[in-house]
Amino acid sequence: MSALSGAPARVPVVIIGGGPAGLLLARLLALGGVESVILERQTREHVLARVRAGVLEWGTVETLRAAGVGDRMDREGTVHDGVGLSFSGRHVRIDFKGLTGKGVMVYGQTQVTRDLYTAVDGMGVPVVDCAEDVIPHGVTGTAPYVTFVKEGTSHRIDCEHVAGCDGSHGVSRTAIPPSVLRSYERVYPFGWLGILSETPPIDKELIYAHSERGFALCSMRHSMLSRYYVQCDMDDGVDDWPDDRFWVELRGRLPDEVACRLVTGPSIEKSLTPLRSFVAEPLRYGRLYLAGDAGHVVPPTGAKGLNLAVSDVCYLASALADAVQGRSTGGLEDYSDRALARVWKAVRFSWWLTMLMHHFPGSGEFDRRIQEAELDYLASSESAQRSFAENYTGLPL
Ligand code: FAD
Ligand code: PHB
Repeated sequence: MSALSGAPARVPVVIIGGGPAGLLLARLLALGGVESVILERQTREHVLARVRAGVLEWGTVETLRAAGVGDRMDREGTVHDGVGLSFSGRHVRIDFKGLTGKGVMVYGQTQVTRDLYTAVDGMGVPVVDCAEDVIPHGVTGTAPYVTFVKEGTSHRIDCEHVAGCDGSHGVSRTAIPPSVLRSYERVYPFGWLGILSETPPIDKELIYAHSERGFALCSMRHSMLSRYYVQCDMDDGVDDWPDDRFWVELRGRLPDEVACRLVTGPSIEKSLTPLRSFVAEPLRYGRLYLAGDAGHVVPPTGAKGLNLAVSDVCYLASALADAVQGRSTGGLEDYSDRALARVWKAVRFSWWLTMLMHHFPGSGEFDRRIQEAELDYLASSESAQRSFAENYTGLPL
C-alpha cells in the first residue's frame, strides 16, 4: 500500500462515487470546514457525458444555490410553473405555481455535475478518478479505511466515516451484510428509450403522455435542445430504434393538437433505461452511510432520483459535520430513518405515476379503465392536482 500523490493518507470522510451525490456532499462538507476525498471509478469525461435527469425540485434549487453552485443554473435553467398531462386525446395542465406557490427548474444533471466539479476543484477537494477495486473496511469499528487501486498500484486512505455515493451498481451497499440489509424491489416490464435532438421543444412545458401505444415524455434542456422518451420493450436495444421509428412512435402517442407541433431532427444521443423501484434499508451500517442511488432507485417517471440524492446529502452533510467537529453524533444515528421517510414518499409517487401512465403488457380491460378513471379524476379534481403538484415540486426537506 502506498500514498497516492494528490490524495491524503488520512481524511475525516472518504466519499465513494463522484456523481451528483458524492460531489454535492464534498462541496457541503468543504463549506462546513470538513475535509474529504472522492474516489470515482470512471473518468471525468465519462461522468460528464451521461445524460440523465432534467427536472430539479424547488428544494434542490435552493440547496444548490445555498451551496454556491446555483449561478449558471439560474442563468441557463428555466423555471416551469406547470406540466402537461395528455391522455385519451385530451391535454390537461397542472398549475404548480397556482396550487403550491412553487415550480421546478429544468436544468440538466450533466450541467449540475459540471458545476459541482468546478466547485469542488475550486475548494481543492481531491477527486481520484479511474479508482478501481474500491473497498470500504472496518466500518463497524472506530477506524475505518478504504482501499483502492490506481494505475495498478494499491492505496489506502484512513478515515472516520465512509459515504457510499456510488450509485445503484456501486460497491458500498455490498459492504452491508445480507443479515442486516433488507431490500425492497419492483421491476416494471418495460424500459424508456430516450433521445436528445437539437430541435425546438414541442411545448414550453413538459408533457407526460398516456396512450394505448404506451407512455411518452416530452422534455427539454433549452430552446434548441429537446429530450424525448418513449416506453419500449424491456428487451429492446438502441439499434431497434432508428430515429424514424422513434419520431413516428412519439407522434403517435401524443394528441393531434400537440403532435402537429413536433419538430424532428437527427438524434445526438440515444439511451435505454430499465424501470425499477428499489430501496435498501438501513442506509447506515456503522460508519458507512449510503446516499442517492446507492441506497434507492426510482423509475424516472416522477423525476425524483437526483432530487432524492440531494435531500439525502443535505441530511448527511450536516450530520457528518456535527460528528467530525465533535458537536453531536445524533444526526448520524438518525440519518437512515430521516432520509428513508422522505425516500419512501418519493418511491410511492414515482410508482404511482409509473402505474398510471404506462401500458402494461398483458393487462386487461379492467386495468385500463382504472387508469382512465384516475386520469379523469386528476383532470377534474383540484385536490388531486394539488397532491400531484405538491409531490412533483418536492415534499419538504
Ligand atoms: P450516480 O449518478 O449513479 O453516481 C454514482 C457515481 O459513482 C458514478 O459516477 C459512478 O461511476 C461511481 N461509481 C460506481 N461504482 C463505483 C465504485 N465501485 N467505485 C467508485 N465509484 C463508483 N432524477 C431526477 O431527479 N429528475 C429527473 O428528471 C431524472 N430523470 C432521469 C432520467 C433518466 C433517463 C435516468 C437514467 C435517471 C433519471 N433520474 C432523474 C435519476 C438520476 O439520474 C439519478 O438518481 C442520479 O444520477 C443519482 O445520483 P447519484 O450520485 O446517487 O448516483
Ligand atoms: C428529463 O428531462 O430527462 C426528464 C424529465 C422528467 C422526467 C424524467 C426525465 O420525469
